Amino acid sequence: MNYAQSRLPRPMRERISLHRLGNVDPVASIADDVRAGFSAIPKSLPPKYFYDERGSWLFEEICKTPEYYLTRTEDALLARIADSVIAKVRPSSILELGSGSSRKTGHLLRACERQRCHARYEPFDVSTEIMLHAAERLVREHAWLSVEVLIGDYLHDLQHIADGTGRRLVLFLGSTIGNFDQHESVSFLRSLRSVMTGDDRFLLGLDRVKEAAILNAAYNDASGLTAEFNLNVLQVINRELDGDFSLQTFAHRAVYNESLARMEMYLDSLVAQSVNLRRLPMQAEFAEGESILTEISCKFTPASIDTMLAQSGFVAEQHFEPENRAFSLVLARPGD
Ligand code: AVJ
Repeated sequence: MNYAQSRLPRPMRERISLHRLGNVDPVASIADDVRAGFSAIPKSLPPKYFYDERGSWLFEEICKTPEYYLTRTEDALLARIADSVIAKVRPSSILELGSGSSRKTGHLLRACERQRCHARYEPFDVSTEIMLHAAERLVREHAWLSVEVLIGDYLHDLQHIADGTGRRLVLFLGSTIGNFDQHESVSFLRSLRSVMTGDDRFLLGLDRVKEAAILNAAYNDASGLTAEFNLNVLQVINRELDGDFSLQTFAHRAVYNESLARMEMYLDSLVAQSVNLRRLPMQAEFAEGESILTEISCKFTPASIDTMLAQSGFVAEQHFEPENRAFSLVLARPGD
């Protein structure tokens, strides 16, 4: 599909194409996920529903807080290593899973430009509008660049991205992989491995195990943005499932679970209450103090990264970290 409705001059517009992968029905999936999550003990919700328009904006604001070091640490690290990664991989295409606004990717594309490595860019995510906006910005910035916007759910539609045209660099940044538990990470990475050829490479961003106080602060910022971000998921459910959650009766809680090396984010019901989700339909009962697990954010060590990659059919080629070792970018290749 060519991308038509735009104010872009035609020569730039022609360097953007748009493909819808799989058949995502977001409303059906939220209904099934909420029904399953609220029937489980303890109750839980998948973190992907945080990111409606307001949630995406809140996440961007979280990234600017002094406590939330992840994004700026990864960004600075990527800026530092971009040239060496591009020189080593010389990709003919860069596929980014969960590309969002593609802001960090700019470092790699500018390295491509410096090294006259004119790779195609393939951002893969759910939000058409955000991705087209990013694609327009990038084709304006780089005269040589073509962008193939892939719209879909990369957790389900990975099988559509198999490609035989040259060496691909796959990006999965931002420690998004931390949202999966061990089993989910390995099964996700295995399915990624199955659509890569031996020549392709994988650059993965992961947050590191560190002092609990630093982690707890990052998910409990003083300005209260993370609390708002967490509570916003109830607003999403109210809107999508015609629910009557009252946000005042739930409280944000985020704690580092040292034995599982992960942050856990919860919404605690402050009172005993019953919530009506008319579109399901379902009546969800909450005891006073009962919590909903809304997100896990796993933290890694160099050894746990290597193990996870090995279990998934990858070999870590190179570990990159900043001086304070707060974050890792790992370049991996498919194993035999
Ligand atoms: C975007 C999934 C990496 O887990 O740190 C930020 C989301 N949650 N503050 C993370 C998030 C609370 C973030 N990821």
